[in-house]
Amino acid sequence: MGQGTTVPVVIASDHAGFEMKEYVKKYLTEKGIPFFDAGAEKLDPHDGYPQFAFKLAELVASGKHSRGILMCGTGIGASIAANRVKKVRAALCDSPDMARMSRLHNDSNVLVLGGRTTTQNVAAEIMDSWFATEFEGGRHQGRIDEMDNHC
Ligand code: RB5
Repeated sequence: MGQGTTVPVVIASDHAGFEMKEYVKKYLTEKGIPFFDAGAEKLDPHDGYPQFAFKLAELVASGKHSRGILMCGTGIGASIAANRVKKVRAALCDSPDMARMSRLHNDSNVLVLGGRTTTQNVAAEIMDSWFATEFEGGRHQGRIDEMDNHC
């Protein structure tokens, strides 16, 4: 999972994803995966998704963390915001198969979960699949290069 990073995974959410972020912390702790929590720090309805999505996306794009897990209510706003940061490939996944494909074909470096649309049990299955799957490379690398070369 990336090189030169001390803490591979960064997580973040807005208020609507806060409870799921607490669950993701529990999941990562149980799996022994170190993480950095980039907020929100508490459940405050004023904490909108763009600031947390940008913070997490920039930490991933800079290489400080190799992967991110990001949450908002549906995951839609957070993924739109995160994907505005170059080199970020944020995938909103609602099933283990989507998570697997996002790694195989898209080399997703940010997993986005809907805190209000995905159950914790399914989120665990999605994360299992996302962490277990490697990028296929090959013809898919060229497509990623094409995106990275587009300003
Ligand atoms: C917050 O109410 C909600 O709009 C946000 O978490 C997210 O679902 C947006 O896409």
